[in-house]
Amino acid sequence: MSAVAPRPIPLAVPSLRGNAERYLRQCLEDNQVSSVGAFVARFEDAFAAAVGARHAVACASGTAALHVALRVVGARPGTDVAVPAFTFIASANAVTYTGAQPWLVDSERSSWNLDAARLHEAVCDRAARGAPLPSAIEAVHVLGAPADLEPLLDLRARFGIPLVEDAAEALGASWTAGPLAGRQVGTAGDAGCFSFNGNKVITTGGGGMVVTDDGDIAGRVRHLTTQAKVPGRGYVHDDVGYNYRLTNLAAALGVAQLELLPAFLTAKRAVAQRYDRALAGLALEPPPRPAGTTPSAWLYSVLLAAGGPGPDAVADALAAAGVTARRVWPPLHRQAPYRAAPRLGGEVAEDLYARGLSLPSSVDLDPDDQDRVAAALAAALGA
Ligand SMILES: Cc1ncc(COP(=O)(O)O)c(C=O)c1O
Repeated sequence: MSAVAPRPIPLAVPSLRGNAERYLRQCLEDNQVSSVGAFVARFEDAFAAAVGARHAVACASGTAALHVALRVVGARPGTDVAVPAFTFIASANAVTYTGAQPWLVDSERSSWNLDAARLHEAVCDRAARGAPLPSAIEAVHVLGAPADLEPLLDLRARFGIPLVEDAAEALGASWTAGPLAGRQVGTAGDAGCFSFNGNKVITTGGGGMVVTDDGDIAGRVRHLTTQAKVPGRGYVHDDVGYNYRLTNLAAALGVAQLELLPAFLTAKRAVAQRYDRALAGLALEPPPRPAGTTPSAWLYSVLLAAGGPGPDAVADALAAAGVTARRVWPPLHRQAPYRAAPRLGGEVAEDLYARGLSLPSSVDLDPDDQDRVAAALAAALGA
C-alpha cells in the first residue's frame, strides 16, 4: 500500500477572490480586452491613491516599469546605475536595457537591502575625484522590507542623481519613523515601480506600475509605454517607444485585487507573525524588520545557521514533506550576464545566498499547513 502524498503547500500563490470574476466578465461583455478600456485608468487612479502618489502609469510588467522609469530619469549608455547585488535579476536587467551598466552594491546585514551608507561614501569619493557619477540609483525594497533611502536622497540633493525605487515586492510597506514617516515605498524617489506578477502582493497575472509625483516623468513614461505615439490621427511616433501597456483584462483583475490589498497585507503580516512564533526555538534568523518601517511581509525568508544543514538540503527535506521552499537569489555577480560588472563589495550578498531560504507565504496559507511547514523545518534542522 503506497503512502498518501501530503497535500502540497506552494511558495506564494494568488488569492483571486472578491470582484475578480465580475470585473473580468465586464471586460468580455464590453468587448474591451486590450489596453483600451475603462479598467486601465481605474486601476491607475486607485493605485495612485492607495500608495499616496500623484500619478500612476500601468505597464505590462514590473520589469517594463523599471526599464521605462530608469530611461526617463536619465539612465543611458556610457553611464552606470547602482543596484543591489542581492535582488531578483530583473532589477539589473532593466538597467541593462537602457544601455547603462549595473554597478552592483553589496547589502547591509540588518535589512538585506542595498548598503546605502557605503554607496553614499563611494559616490562622494567619486565626486571628490571628479570621476563620473552614476546616472541613477535603483534601490530595491528587498522581500518587502523598506530600504534606507536617506543617504540616497542626500546624493540626489547634492549631485542630482535620480532615485528609482524597485518596490516590486513591497506594495503596502511604509516608513513609520524618520523623514519618510507616513510614506509608502515607491513614493520617496523620482519614480517607484511595482510588479503584479503571480507571486506578488497583488497580481494581474502579469503587470507593473510606475508611480511618481512628477507630472513630466509620468507623461514621458506613458508616452514611451505606448510606442511613443504622438496623440492625434495617424501613426506618428517621435521616439523609439515600447509596447508596454497593461491590458484592460489585467487591469480589471488589478482593480479587484487592489480592493483586497488591506486584507492581503493583514494576512501576510499574520503569516509572518505565526512563523516568528513557530520557528522561535530553531537555529535560524527571522527576516529583517528594519526599525522605523512596516514591511509588506511579502515572502517570509530566513537565514539558516552557518554550519548546520544548508538551504538546498533543507529545501529538499521540505519538498519530501510536500512543502515548497526556495533558496534566495544568488548575488548578481554570480549570474552570467553580470560576472564582469563593477561592484562594491558583495560578501553580505554571498552570505545571504549561502544561508537564505524562503518559506510558503501565500495570503490564504492555512494555519494548519503553516504548522506543517514549521514541523518539517524543525525536523530538517534536527530540532
Ligand atoms: C525585486 C524585483 N524587481 C523586479 C521584478 C520584475 O517584475 P515582473 O516579474 O513583473 O517583470 C521582480 C519580480 O518579478 C522583483 O522581485
